[in-house]
Amino acid sequence: MLEGKRILLVISGGIAAYKSLELIRRLRERGAAVRAVLSRGGAEFVTPLSVAALTGDKVYQELFSLTDEAEMGHIQLSRDADLLVVAPASADLLAKMATGRADDLASTVLLATDKAVLAAPAMNVRMWLHPATQQNVATLAERGLHLVGPGEGDMACGEYGPGRMAEPQEILAAIEAFFAGAAPLSGRRALVTSGPTHEAIDPVRYIANRSSGRQGHAIAGALARLGAETTLVSGPTALADPPGVAVTRVESAEEMLAACQAALPVDLAVCAAAVADWRPAKAGGQKTKKNGKAPPSLKLTENPDILATLSEAGNRRPQLVIGFAAETEKVIAHAKAKLARKGCDWILANDVSPASGTFGGAENSIHLIDAEGVEDWPRLSKELVAERLGQRIAAWFGGEA
Ligand code: C5P
Repeated sequence: MLEGKRILLVISGGIAAYKSLELIRRLRERGAAVRAVLSRGGAEFVTPLSVAALTGDKVYQELFSLTDEAEMGHIQLSRDADLLVVAPASADLLAKMATGRADDLASTVLLATDKAVLAAPAMNVRMWLHPATQQNVATLAERGLHLVGPGEGDMACGEYGPGRMAEPQEILAAIEAFFAGAAPLSGRRALVTSGPTHEAIDPVRYIANRSSGRQGHAIAGALARLGAETTLVSGPTALADPPGVAVTRVESAEEMLAACQAALPVDLAVCAAAVADWRPAKAGGQKTKKNGKAPPSLKLTENPDILATLSEAGNRRPQLVIGFAAETEKVIAHAKAKLARKGCDWILANDVSPASGTFGGAENSIHLIDAEGVEDWPRLSKELVAERLGQRIAAWFGGEA
């Protein structure tokens, strides 16, 4: 499967570096040629001798090495591979990659390459959850970095949580999937709603809400990167269109519903829009004028529920329908009730009480609720929530196919 493939393995500093030795063995068993760059930090955990013995090749360590540069310059090293694998990817190396720094051989090779890069992050749970790391990983994922892990579990430092490097067989599976060209959602069609809706009072005034659209846009981008043919139906936002996504812009809930129905059939739908529950019963054709009398009163009427409509779409129902539940109290109980009421398959529940900073903010604490139960996710940037949801959806379809 990996016969003849050339892998450049970058080993940075972390206790998980010992797992990279096992990874080299497994890659070579499958016929891959492995060349290794060992960072200074990496060399504190595994020796150049063990890496060289397993790769059967010289180990590259120094940026300014006359002998290394004479044999193979760092630019050539970075190009002379089919895939770069960073395992373990330390918080520091990810930060360098995100900001484009190149002050040692590992970071320089990663900046100079024109090849795909797969990273297996490994670090302490606090370091992983730190907004700086979350932001760096989100930036890199948006630029096309492939990620595997990290997993959750006991850490070498005695703490528990996300940050453990993926196991060698998981990294191997990710490498094989990359070479198989198997974008896990290719051939699937996805529909995502995002943003607020604007409900006209008259030609110049409207009712709206504070949704930024960040979460929905990030989900559409993640699904497209996983290979799904993705349509994003978005209310008014200040965000750029996610790359590779067909975007339909709408204003009101009724327009959003019509655009969603026009996008059917799809295999999956994610309703992340904050659709206004009500709209003015009758939008004035002209700007309402102050006439010196009492202020006008607004009569409201209920908007269509897009999530419920898609969930009840009969033979046009997407196989997987996912909604959000933004709650300010009793988050899980309310979300479970919503799952039943709306007839969708999964609800991603999050706390939007003012103290949580979620609405309009950059992060989300998600509880994924389905018929089986509740899965609590750590606090993640909205981009990483999108990545994780995309992986979860891909696994669901993988299991089904
Ligand atoms: O009922 P509530 O607004 O809390 O439900 C949230 C979920 O339902 C979200 O997924 C949202 O996108 C979706 N929704 C919808 N159409 C509406 C109201 C909510 O699609 N009119």
